[in-house]
Amino acid sequence: MQHRSQRITVVGAGYVGLVTGACLASIGHEVVVVDRDAGRIAGLEAGVMPIYEAGLAALVSGEIAAGRLAFTTDLAAAVPGAAAVFICVGTPPRPSDGHADMAQVMAAAGEIAASLSAFTAIVVKSTVPVGTGDEVEALVHARAPAADVAVVSNPEFLREGVAIADFMRPDRIVVGTDDARAAALMAAIYRPLNEAGAPLVVTNRRASELIKYAANAFLALKITYINEIANLCEEIGADVEDVARGIGLDPRIGSQFLKAGPGFGGSCFPKDMLALMKTGQDHGVPLRSVETAVAVNDARKGEMVRKIVRAAGGSVAGKTIAVLGLTFKAGTDDMRSAASLVILPQLQKQGARIVAHDPAGMGQAGPLLPGVLMAKGSMAALAGADLAVILTEWPEFAALDLDAAARIMRRPILVDLRNLVDPDEAARAGFCYRSIGRTGREAELRVPAEAAE
Ligand SMILES: NC(=O)c1ccc[n+]([C@@H]2O[C@H](COP(=O)([O-])OP(=O)(O)OC[C@H]3O[C@@H](n4cnc5c(N)ncnc54)[C@H](O)[C@@H]3O)[C@@H](O)[C@H]2O)c1
Repeated sequence: MQHRSQRITVVGAGYVGLVTGACLASIGHEVVVVDRDAGRIAGLEAGVMPIYEAGLAALVSGEIAAGRLAFTTDLAAAVPGAAAVFICVGTPPRPSDGHADMAQVMAAAGEIAASLSAFTAIVVKSTVPVGTGDEVEALVHARAPAADVAVVSNPEFLREGVAIADFMRPDRIVVGTDDARAAALMAAIYRPLNEAGAPLVVTNRRASELIKYAANAFLALKITYINEIANLCEEIGADVEDVARGIGLDPRIGSQFLKAGPGFGGSCFPKDMLALMKTGQDHGVPLRSVETAVAVNDARKGEMVRKIVRAAGGSVAGKTIAVLGLTFKAGTDDMRSAASLVILPQLQKQGARIVAHDPAGMGQAGPLLPGVLMAKGSMAALAGADLAVILTEWPEFAALDLDAAARIMRRPILVDLRNLVDPDEAARAGFCYRSIGRTGREAELRVPAEAAE
């Protein structure tokens, strides 16, 4: 049996790498996290987190103090002696064709290859298209023909906002390798989590790579499905919240990811759907359900804009819109593929002035949303506004003092794209209230794209 504590190097100090490094340290391993961004590493050494993730700062400082976690920019020095090197770098979509861009993964693999000593598992935790493990292996063998190495797939399923809990209590740990030594090492690394109840799924590398994409696409399909059901609810006078509860209680369906809203976004779903679509097309197996969901989700942002414009009485020109929430979901500062990045510029184009507030995302959002004024708090954003839009499901927006909000706005109109507010309470506070799929009156707000353009 492997010794419980392993020496591990993690490449990439982003949402996944930082959480992975800190959590692996907390279960007893000796971890070095490497990032090529010197400012990021200097900040981390000084206790400054480069991302917003609940509980991360305390975990990182605790593990540094315990001597189990260190940071460096020197990858070459961090590889020799490590039993496993986890690659946790970005895999954004390639602008030219939507394929996942493997440049960061391949660059990291090349640098690792140059410094290998004894047997090392190179663990690809970044989300990568099927076959990437083979490419990494070929590159490492070309650069370091004598190296004793196994390339392992170990996709990550953590959710931003609850990343530490997800890492420490995962639904499953997926390991893709045909190498017995690597499989034993991975089992040893994850033993504390496995013993605490997390099932270990060991399979071949390609199946492991596909599991990550297939899981994300399935969740995105669920969101897209309930959004379409919400549209139908608006036509027939049904409440999508009741419909979601009514179907979600069936354990074959499950209640999660049945929350109607402005469409999925974020750092993973949009890019992973595109990458899976491309993989299917490349192999002559187009994934039509995935392709349709992407198209439906893309169109959803325009539907939300039209909903807001109709709530404003047909035009937003010259009006001030208070936007509550900018990040793609609550609990993170991540702005990647956030709905706000599509919806807000379209409203600005139609002449709206936008004042926004987000509890964590304004720093990242500022440069991405030129012309949007950032307010220090919800009430500051709402003061004097002609219309308010709830765009992200931050708990503080659900707890908004509606009476005070209605009083402080120029016109009390609220478009709640997350169904956070109780419609009756909104009405009692004097709001003209619109939400997603909850009243027959919503139907009039959805107009065909042609009519609105
Ligand atoms: N963010 C999530 O919620 C999440 C969840 C599951 C899986 N993933 C996947 O994990 C991967 C990483 O995502 P992320 O959100 O953590 O990315 P990120 O952009 O936050 O972090 C990546 C980090 O890697 C660093 N980096 C890139 N190349 C490097 C190199 N050669 N050497 C050292 N450092 C290098 C970058 O400077 C950056 O700090 C992606 O493939 C993503 O799809 C993300």
